[in-house]
Amino acid sequence: MPALALATGADDIAEAARLLRRGELVAFPTETVYGLGGDATNGRAVAAIFAAKGRPRFNPLISHLAEAAAAAELAELDSRARDIAARFWPGPLTLVLPRRKDCPIALLAGAGLDTVALRVPDHPVAHALLAAVGRPLAAPSANRSGRISPTSAAHVRAELGDRIAAIIDGGACRIGLESTVLDLSGERPILLRPGGIPVETLAAVLGPIDRPPRGAGGAPRGPGMLASHYAPALPLRLKAGKPRPGEALLAFGAAPAPGYAEIEWLSRTSDLAEAAANLFAALRALDRPEFSGIAVMPIPEDGLGAAINDRLRRAAAPRG
Ligand code: TXA
Ligand code: MG
Repeated sequence: MPALALATGADDIAEAARLLRRGELVAFPTETVYGLGGDATNGRAVAAIFAAKGRPRFNPLISHLAEAAAAAELAELDSRARDIAARFWPGPLTLVLPRRKDCPIALLAGAGLDTVALRVPDHPVAHALLAAVGRPLAAPSANRSGRISPTSAAHVRAELGDRIAAIIDGGACRIGLESTVLDLSGERPILLRPGGIPVETLAAVLGPIDRPPRGAGGAPRGPGMLASHYAPALPLRLKAGKPRPGEALLAFGAAPAPGYAEIEWLSRTSDLAEAAANLFAALRALDRPEFSGIAVMPIPEDGLGAAINDRLRRAAAPRG
């Protein structure tokens, strides 16, 4: 059955909350990307999320909360974590924290780790839904595993429309890039995924932030070790200048070289926030069989550029 199309009125939110409490899956908007929500305390609902996405079991899920205060019931927050939560929640930041012994989040959501990943989204619809459900919602990005994160309800329907109970249409996502994932479970903070909050902003509060060890064995702690993660069907060529035959172009800033088969703009004015918001939709728009590949103009590494380039490098990585 196709997913129920819900709007953002009180009745729609109440219906979505009913479905979620019954263990069904509902996709909902956040300020970063659309999430595929399920009751995080219900192991079967969490398993259904993995099944709908076709996600590898070792990739753990973020639990979303209506209020920052609820985090203390689920995880151990030291003074550093409380400070960061107070400054950046609600917002595009996920904290990986030691799981409390009595934490009600299903173990499957954490893929068996002794940590939980928590986020308080900064979006009125997500907030209303989380408050109505009254439980944390596990929600990975609402795409099939290994594909681009959705930034509109139409993207979600194309990916998962026949696999989930409902989709709440809250329009386009403001940030358009997933949350920054920061691991505060150990002595030193570790950046597991660059995202909506620049790492420089966090480092200004925390001091130096480590990167995850590269090529370590065992289960990955973050998505950083899955080299190919965000993958369009077409090959991607980064830092492109002149076109190759049949290529489409993802353009940024300067005037592009002539001869590309089609152009999608990330930002004409070199605005990295605008580029982040357009990134996934633009990749999708160009991922069509009539093109031979997608070329991408150079994008600076500073601020949100680091997260944008991270997503682009993954999308360009050799596929397994
Ligand atoms: O912006 C976002 O973060 C979106 C919206 C829906 O909130 N969600 C999202 O979820 O991007 P997902 O599942 O696609 O990515 C979450 C990442 C995963 O790649 C996972 O590896 C990491 O967070 N993660 C989750 N729990 C973790 C944990 N306990 N330890 C380390 N990494 C964790
Ligand atoms: Mg994802």
